[in-house]
Amino acid sequence: KIEQKVDSVLNLMTLKEKVGQLNQLNAGDLTGPADEKNVDILQEIRNGKIGSLLNVRGAKITKELQQEAMKSRLKIPLIFGQDVIHGYRVIFPIPLAEAASWDMDAIKLSARTAAREASSSGIQWTFAPMVDIARDPRWGRVMEGAGEDPYLGSAIAKARVLGFQGKQIGSLDAVMACAKHFAAYGAAIAGRDYNGVDMSKRQLWEVYLPPFKAALDAGAATFMNSFNTLNGIPATGNSYLQRDILKGAWGFKGFVVSDWGSIKEMVAHGYAKDLKQAAQMAITAGNDMDMESKAYDTYLLGLVKEGKVNIDDINEAVKRILNKKFELGLFKNPYRFSDEKREKLELNSSINKAASREVAKKSIVLLKNATSILPLSKSTKTIALIGPLVKANQDMRGFWALSWGKDDIPVSLYDGVKNKLGNKTNLLYAKGCNINDSLTTGFNEAIETAEKADVVVMAVGETFDMTGEAKSKADIHIPGMQEELVKAIVKTGKPLVVLVMGGRPLIFNYTAENVKSILFTWWLGSQAGDAMADVLFGDYNPSGKLPITFPRSMGQIPIYYAQTNTGRPFEEGKSPNYRSTYLDMSNSPQYAFGHGLSYTNFKYSDLKLDKTNIALNDTIKMILNVTNTGKYAGEEVVQLYIKDKVAQPVRPIMELKDFQKIRLNVGETKQITFYIEKEKLSFYNDDLKWIAQPGDFEVMIGSASDDIRLKENFTLIN
Ligand code: IFM
Repeated sequence: KIEQKVDSVLNLMTLKEKVGQLNQLNAGDLTGPADEKNVDILQEIRNGKIGSLLNVRGAKITKELQQEAMKSRLKIPLIFGQDVIHGYRVIFPIPLAEAASWDMDAIKLSARTAAREASSSGIQWTFAPMVDIARDPRWGRVMEGAGEDPYLGSAIAKARVLGFQGKQIGSLDAVMACAKHFAAYGAAIAGRDYNGVDMSKRQLWEVYLPPFKAALDAGAATFMNSFNTLNGIPATGNSYLQRDILKGAWGFKGFVVSDWGSIKEMVAHGYAKDLKQAAQMAITAGNDMDMESKAYDTYLLGLVKEGKVNIDDINEAVKRILNKKFELGLFKNPYRFSDEKREKLELNSSINKAASREVAKKSIVLLKNATSILPLSKSTKTIALIGPLVKANQDMRGFWALSWGKDDIPVSLYDGVKNKLGNKTNLLYAKGCNINDSLTTGFNEAIETAEKADVVVMAVGETFDMTGEAKSKADIHIPGMQEELVKAIVKTGKPLVVLVMGGRPLIFNYTAENVKSILFTWWLGSQAGDAMADVLFGDYNPSGKLPITFPRSMGQIPIYYAQTNTGRPFEEGKSPNYRSTYLDMSNSPQYAFGHGLSYTNFKYSDLKLDKTNIALNDTIKMILNVTNTGKYAGEEVVQLYIKDKVAQPVRPIMELKDFQKIRLNVGETKQITFYIEKEKLSFYNDDLKWIAQPGDFEVMIGSASDDIRLKENFTLIN
């Protein structure tokens, strides 16, 4: 039915109006470089020359702009898009932090809440989720994805799409999702943002594409292509990615938007000789909407007339976009998302804040608790809070918080602890140093403050804008004199907990080796301080697990758990001679993928497989017990890894293939069931065929990729 409606609108359209639908312009915050070419946006809307705007928000303004669209000849409504990445008004933890929860309901809740808020503000489309696999923490945008693993990344991609899109596109409380950046943006050479990507097709299919496929299967309405070249071809002009894979093999029915200016950037890449050729290449390769290059607007008309662009390509792109406008219900009522009353009720509601705190708690990772200092007692008499991030509040927002209210100050660690303990506890504070400078003048005050306290809690790390788009770093140590400050406080001998805050894996080897209790608290959003206090004082038992490896040294990068073996593997403690290792550094990371502790302990036992030989179409059922043997109720992420022992081509030493997050009371045992079938044993061979090879496998079940508790072998037979 919608198809007929689309056709009937298309039939009425001039070529100029068609091109207008493919044109997306910025009308608010700059989330990319400014363009010199000034455009009278209102006039262009009335002329039917704009199909979508980005970065305008608010029920009132979106309604007013939509009214302008209703003055155009065919009254085709606009779509309003924005980067609603981790919350809208109420800010949620950055996506990498949420990924650390390994909790799909929590991740869905975050996206759902953001969608409810954003849709009430007139936004119908978020440029999220970013589903790029990232194995290089130097890359600033590592904060926006789900980390290094395709299996976990795919589960999270699905949860986010379902959260954003709710019941269906067109529901008033939903926004269209946009799986980005198609594809392989996360593999930028040397971790430098926007850099080229060179990888085998097998790696592309096996590691980088699965989360996109998962997003598509979950119904993602749109895709965004990418700034990078892939094996020499810009993603924006890449018909292998957009036509062959996405719209061809995968049968994607939505539309593809370029990234900001990425059509234009094909000229800088040296792929197109000028903007006109870039426009031709992009539309031909399957890029439907042009974000901020003004390439389609300027050249498509002429290119069609000259016979250089096929009108069918334009019609197809327009149809895909109109289709979504119909699905959104905008032709019936263009103002349906711009509802000031709903907006007032929805934005910043206490329910939304509570949701943010809930997700934030679950995102915190307990890296170390050697002498069980944590959780702290709520009746501690004097606590010293030390470090440059103790009172930081704006930083808690993280990088992509475009729509936070200027008056909605996020909760700092200091305020969170104060909210929790009231006046019963004497709270002392010293900043110690700034994040990024070389001065130690504040150290003495910090030491004196620590000496007066029963317990010291430190907060060190990055500022929020040190990780994000165009925030790649060649040095990922925690900056400035902060580790020196930690050293000075360690020397006081006071019981010490360090909270490390940041948007990416950071290096803090002194702290890792010398401090007994460490939490990684990312950027947790509006309620950050309250969530941190919940964990510090045991109202929530931490359950986060790292979705990405934390290196010991920049020289180890790229470092990820699912490496393949070498012909000369190195064994810890043995001679490095003629072995695959470093002379000056261990191969092992500081914290492995999947690592994260709890205030309690979990015992794994009784792994049983119902068979140890399976045929290709068979399934193994395996059961095991997990028991909470400690003193606190808690959650555990039980992780299942597989190793295909002999295969052509070779397989990684371990690959995550399933996980379950469970909650256990003190002393409780739960039986967990996992299934393994052909799909989990399959991979792409050299001809890019998805196959499972008969042979021997090992299944490893544990609490982290470097903390395997149970193992078994089985054989896949022909
Ligand atoms: O959605 C973003 C994209 O991820 C990076 N460039 C700008 C876009 C729109 O803000």
